[in-house]
Amino acid sequence: MADPKKLFIKTYGCQMNVYDSERMAEAMGAQGYVQTEVLEEADMVLLNTCHIREKASEKLYSDLGRLKPLKAERPGLKVGVAGCVAQAEGEEILKRMPLVDIVVGPQSYHRLPAMVRAEGRVVDTDFPAEDKFEHLPARKALRGPTAFLTVQEGCDKFCAFCVVPYTRGAEVSRPAERLLREARDLVDRGVREITLLGQNVNAYHAGGWTLARLIRELAGIEGLDRIRYTTSHPNDMAEDLIAAHAEVPQLMPYLHLPVQSGSDRILKAMNRKHTADHYLRLVERIRAARPDILLTSDFIVGFPGETEADFEATMALVRQVGYGAAFSFKYSARPGTPAAEKAPVAAEVADERLQALQALITAQQQAAQAAMVGQEVAVLYEKTGRRPGQMVGKSQHLMAVHVEDAAGRIGDLVRARVSASAPNSLAAVRIPD
Ligand code: 5AD
Ligand code: SF4
Repeated sequence: MADPKKLFIKTYGCQMNVYDSERMAEAMGAQGYVQTEVLEEADMVLLNTCHIREKASEKLYSDLGRLKPLKAERPGLKVGVAGCVAQAEGEEILKRMPLVDIVVGPQSYHRLPAMVRAEGRVVDTDFPAEDKFEHLPARKALRGPTAFLTVQEGCDKFCAFCVVPYTRGAEVSRPAERLLREARDLVDRGVREITLLGQNVNAYHAGGWTLARLIRELAGIEGLDRIRYTTSHPNDMAEDLIAAHAEVPQLMPYLHLPVQSGSDRILKAMNRKHTADHYLRLVERIRAARPDILLTSDFIVGFPGETEADFEATMALVRQVGYGAAFSFKYSARPGTPAAEKAPVAAEVADERLQALQALITAQQQAAQAAMVGQEVAVLYEKTGRRPGQMVGKSQHLMAVHVEDAAGRIGDLVRARVSASAPNSLAAVRIPD
């Protein structure tokens, strides 16, 4: 038998892309491709791209530039571009980059194998009516005891800065029965923690199902010990979901709830449709339901029109909430979005604000970790540590924990006592069962 063909995938951006890359690898696996980590031996290179900020988009073109010598050496090499840049730029990518053979948007991944078999250069950026996941082969390649499960895609919110509603399209929720089937199948293969993914995951609604109902049903699956979900919009944080945080032990005390800004003026300009006060009251209700919940957020600084006072309002909100971690970004004008029409804030000013916000967030993250020293945490082992007798996993709060445990194995869910806090992780000692 001939050697199998080799597929190299590079994934940029969010967790949904990570999930999509796995599904595409499985689709190509059914065509006889095996995945490789070695670019030079690949028969096909697939770049699963992100369009959210300019830097992420531009990375595609620099990476494609670097593929040129490889393609020159091996003209048979197939080069594919998937993800949100593929969706946004389509044909343009073929024009700008002659070495690209395939451009496939996020809703057409089930058509990838046919595109690879096709002669010539092909583009597919449709939003087809059929559910791509139903046309993709069953899950196979698992990376350990944790898995992602996309339950919802797309966004109808149209925040003024964001390309997602254009690249991922309108909100679509996958039917609950299919998700439960996929979840059971994952658990049968050793998965103990599932993170439900969606661009607006808490807007999930399908045939009378809400995200809260889905979580409660998932919690009934024997062997599924942990459930998480991301990313949520404050306006979709329904009462039943908050109640699930109080009542479902498998639902981890962790919530990524992006607010973007603490200034009502900027929130309005961003078309967020909520105020800072609305967010703060929501946080209070969530904390009342689950006092040990750890909150994280996303922030944009330097949005067009942001004054020093607006920025100070963001800093004040961060101080008031107290985050366990957060991502903060400098505003990046994205073609086609309403905010891109507006005059930008000076780059030096935005840089300064970003640094100040990041310093505050880092201090809060350190404080949240330091507060865990001496506490008991639950850790799901995802890999072995660098030293023998050490395992590495995540706590209920999604903090990385290095545990002293000579008998530990990947997939164990253990109790451990935190002994120290390092910049990005905790050290802990296993508590015997
Ligand atoms: N510029 C900067 N950051 C952005 N984000 C989305 N669009 C932009 C943009 N144009 C950030 C938001 C979002 C996260 C995924 O990326 O904070 O929550
Ligand atoms: Fe983008 Fe706003 Fe939708 Fe989030 S809610 S994906 S930031 S448009």
